[in-house]
Amino acid sequence: MKLRLKPCLLLLCLLLLTAALSGCSGGDKRIIRIGHNQATDHPTNIALLAFEEFIESELGDKYDVEVYPSELLGSQTDMVQLTQTGAIDFCVASNSILETFSRNYTLFNLPYLFVSSEAYHSAMDDPAITEPIFESTKQAGFEAVTWIDAGTRNFYTVSTPIESPADLKGLKIRVQQSPTNVTMMSLLGGSATPMGFGEVYTALQSKVIDGAENNELALTSNGHGDVCKFYSYDMHQMIPDILIGNCGFLDSLSEEERAIFNEGFKIVNTVEREEWGKAVDAAKERAANEQGVTFLYPEVQPFQDICTPMHQELIASNPDLAPIYEGIQSWNAAYAD
Ligand code: GCU
Repeated sequence: MKLRLKPCLLLLCLLLLTAALSGCSGGDKRIIRIGHNQATDHPTNIALLAFEEFIESELGDKYDVEVYPSELLGSQTDMVQLTQTGAIDFCVASNSILETFSRNYTLFNLPYLFVSSEAYHSAMDDPAITEPIFESTKQAGFEAVTWIDAGTRNFYTVSTPIESPADLKGLKIRVQQSPTNVTMMSLLGGSATPMGFGEVYTALQSKVIDGAENNELALTSNGHGDVCKFYSYDMHQMIPDILIGNCGFLDSLSEEERAIFNEGFKIVNTVEREEWGKAVDAAKERAANEQGVTFLYPEVQPFQDICTPMHQELIASNPDLAPIYEGIQSWNAAYAD
């Protein structure tokens, strides 16, 4: 079993106190705090360390970047709130979590939205698609500065192989805290159990839940494969992670500094994507060979047929999202499987 850190409230209080008192320490340098919920060997952490190195190489006389992994600054929801108020400057949040801060984010949470990873990547790299969504939380005090690949989400369970939606019936499955994920789970027949990422391992181990859904790295990096023995490629979602920044901090940067930060945000995206493919291959191998996880490849269509009505329901209740949804369909057409 992997040792995992719980949110360290004492550290958080100390950080907030320091921030409140000065916003600076280590001489005259402005400390930039970035929080996320992944382990230190995860592609997200590797990418944020590359960002730290880049910013400090360009602007090291003025800024000192500190990256806090493993929910050290709290759960994703906590960290988004800290970023909103400016208690910290950046955090990585799953797009799922952001849905409760701006309805626009619901779009990227739709099951079976993208037909292939090429379509997904191209759509997320297309500013016509991301900008209206990324900027929609400015009034709430934060904005998205780049997206981060988090692969494809699939179901995995302690002991029930999921070969078709019928196998989910009666199972308690952890989902992220987002209304879209709860709806998706109910449509598929399972019982949705929303909870923060850091609580999932214990919930699986104590059998409070029968399974969860996530990319392959959750099996290894988070140890879920120690408990869950069946991972089933139903391919229900490609949900990006989003690096968000406090607007007050971003607006305080000079034009030249902002250009350097923008370069840094691109580095986060590029480095993480380079690391992602390697990390998934390594996770699959370790899960199969060391944790005894069986990978299943069910027919995807029955899962997809149940979920796709969610698309039209979202567009009908949010017509302003229609042009963005159509833009995604163009990428789907260009990169159909
Ligand atoms: C993935 C994703 C995280 C998210 C987690 C979850 O690991 O990268 O941002 O928090 O799933 O299921 O909560």
